[in-house]
Amino acid sequence: SGPEAARLVASRVLDVPDFPKPGVMFKDLMPLFADGKAFREVTDGIVAYHGRDTFDVVVGIEARGFVVAAAIAYAAGVGVVPVRKAGKLPRAAHSVSYALEYGEATLEVHEDAFTAGHRVLVVDDVLATGGTAEATLDLVERAGGTVTGFTVLLELGFLGGRKRLAPRSVHALLTV
Ligand code: PRP
Repeated sequence: SGPEAARLVASRVLDVPDFPKPGVMFKDLMPLFADGKAFREVTDGIVAYHGRDTFDVVVGIEARGFVVAAAIAYAAGVGVVPVRKAGKLPRAAHSVSYALEYGEATLEVHEDAFTAGHRVLVVDDVLATGGTAEATLDLVERAGGTVTGFTVLLELGFLGGRKRLAPRSVHALLTV
């Protein structure tokens, strides 16, 4: 259930101060990934929330999003498409760059990643400022995918990522 999934995430996230930079409180979900029972419950909960037959492929965002995406895809019996950081993909790719607090980041997806008409569920571990998610959703659409859902395990509500993604909707298991 929703409250049960939120409790599992809340009890298995570690706050790491000053990572990766001074002043940033990093949310580490690796304890959740490492707990087989909790990870399975959270994964099955996400599939149930969206509905097993509402998506044809899952997109995971490098790197922690890959862990979540692969589990959901396996549970639902569909495939995974990775969205990667610049320069990692071997074949022709679409790129989207976005602003970070200092500098810029680029995400990429293979041009042939999506079959026409396929419905795409995008997943990541954490939604913070929403820059990564916004770039990924743009990228999937540019590559011809139809985004039908976007789920994160943990949303940092005070950073406003959800507003930035509007009118697209975000499903978060836990918002802090
Ligand atoms: C983290 C997280 C999200 C993103 C959220 O990834 O896994 O992808 O930041 O931040 P935003 O909403 O402010 O864009 P990170 O860049 O640390 O990549 P990693 O998983 O490869 O370490």
